This record gives sequence, structure tokens and C-alpha cells, in this order.
Amino acid sequence: MTAGSPAPGGPAGGGHHGDGHYGEDLFEPKHPGEAERIDAAALAYDPVTTGRLRALGVAHGSRCLDVGAGTGTVTRWLLEEPGAAEVVALDRDTGGLAGLVDPRVRVLTADLTDESLAPGTFDLIHARFVLMHLRERRAIISRLAGWLNPGGLLVLADAVEVADPQDASSAYRRVMDAMWRALKSTIGTDTSSVPAYPRFLREEGLRDVAAELYCPPLVAGSPLAAFWSETWSRMRPDLEETGLVDGAVVDEALAYLASPGFAELGPGMLMAWGRRP
Ligand SMILES: C[S@@+](CC[C@H](N)C(=O)[O-])C[C@H]1O[C@@H](n2cnc3c(N)ncnc32)[C@H](O)[C@@H]1O
Repeated sequence: MTAGSPAPGGPAGGGHHGDGHYGEDLFEPKHPGEAERIDAAALAYDPVTTGRLRALGVAHGSRCLDVGAGTGTVTRWLLEEPGAAEVVALDRDTGGLAGLVDPRVRVLTADLTDESLAPGTFDLIHARFVLMHLRERRAIISRLAGWLNPGGLLVLADAVEVADPQDASSAYRRVMDAMWRALKSTIGTDTSSVPAYPRFLREEGLRDVAAELYCPPLVAGSPLAAFWSETWSRMRPDLEETGLVDGAVVDEALAYLASPGFAELGPGMLMAWGRRP
């Protein structure tokens, strides 16, 4: 798997030299279609996320924190769970949460990398597809664990790719590899430590640590295919800047993604959780 591996030569030129940020140098929240892009991925993963959260249990009177809440699909689900007494929806840009009107919800506009951030203590903290985008992820996991009440659960979810080791040359593979490399070189996204999340949770002193991996079916014409198509299209200059692909390869991958013959195991989501004793 090359996803998240260091770029040998860095961007071919004019790149961000690894100091960019999510929401500023890529995936700007004001971009028309950004909420739809996030929702398209949420649609594919929400059933697994909410199924796992329900199985873990949202005890009566729980204070919950949804970290990097995005468009708030998980926050909304938590509000429907009978146990949730309060849900804090935290994001650096909370524009996608404007419609959230509930006396039990607190929308918190904050930057997770801010070391002085102290949103309170919680019985459930959930962070999906956000830590992988932040260079400070390991230190943030420590801080999140520190915000747990005794008995509280920390649930982390991020992307993992189970790439076909026999395919180094298809347009699909080359564009996916270019995407992970470009994400790393522009905003610091790195999925290489995601499989270590169970160990990180154990290092934080959490108990009952476990993890699972889910790769949703990636089918042409599905919302998830639209998510990848939109992501690649938006990143086209960054993809080409890696030097791994040119415009023709991106076009070929986009056409393949929309074709009836499309057949790939798409990126998955690793969920890891643990409980403060
Ligand atoms: C890929 S979206 C995931 C949204 C949501 N968790 C989901 O799974 O649908 C990443 C979210 O993290 C937020 N985010 C990125 N960097 C952040 C930071 N430093 N502090 C707080 N939120 C951040 C983004 O604004 C965005 O809403």
C-alpha cells in the first residue's frame, strides 16, 4: 500500500511543502458541493458507525462529543438516541451544522489542534475522518482521551486502504496512490498510523480496546462513487503535481469509476474504540 507513504521527491513544484491545512488548502468549506461531498461519504459509512455506537451503548444521561462533526449526520443520530443528554458538535467550520436546532446540542467552532481547547468532559467521544487529516493526530488522541469521564468511550474512525498488491499500474490505482500522496504533501493527511489506533488507545490507558475494518461496496453510480469522483476532480492539479499521473490518467480513472465494468475494493474505515476505567 502506498497510501500515506512519504513522497520521495515531494510535490513536483509549486506545492504547499507539507504545511497546508484541511479546509484552507484543500476541501474549503465554502466550495459549492463540499457539504454534498461529505454527505456522500457519510451515507456510505453512517450505518456501520451508528450500528457500532449503538452496540457499544449510549448510556442514559450521556454527554457526547462529535469531533470534526462535518455536516452533522452522526451528531443528529446521537440526538435521536434516548441516552444522549447533550451532544457537542465540534468543527473548525460549523457552517454545515447551521440547521442543527435542539436544546441538547452545542455547536462549538474550534480548532482541534489548539492545545488550550477544553470543551469539558464526556461519556462518548467520536471522531471520524478528521484525525487522519491532522499532523498532530497522536497528541490529539491523548487530549481526547483526557476529556473522557470514568467509563467513557473514545471511538476513532479513519481511512485504511486495502490496495491490491498485484496492481501497480491501473489508472484507478495510480490515481488513488497520487491522491494519498497529494493529500500528504498538501495538508499532511496520513493514513499510515490508522491501523495503530488500537495500540494508541491502549497507550492512553483505555480498556476493552477493539477495532474493526469496513470497506463499503464501491459501485459505479453510487453516492460513494460520486464522493471519489468529486474528490479526484477537485484535487486534479494536486494529483498531477505529484508526477505520478497526468490529466489523461485522471480522465481514464474517472471514466472507469463511472463505468458498468468498474470492479475494485474501495478504501475502508477502521473504527477503534476503548473505555476509560
Ligand atoms: C472529512 S470531514 C468528516 C466529517 C464527519 N466527521 C463525517 O465523518 O461525516 C472532516 C471534518 O473535519 C473538520 N476539521 C478539519 N480540520 C479540523 C480541525 N483542525 N479542527 C476541527 N475540525 C477540523 C472539517 O472541517 C470537516 O468538517
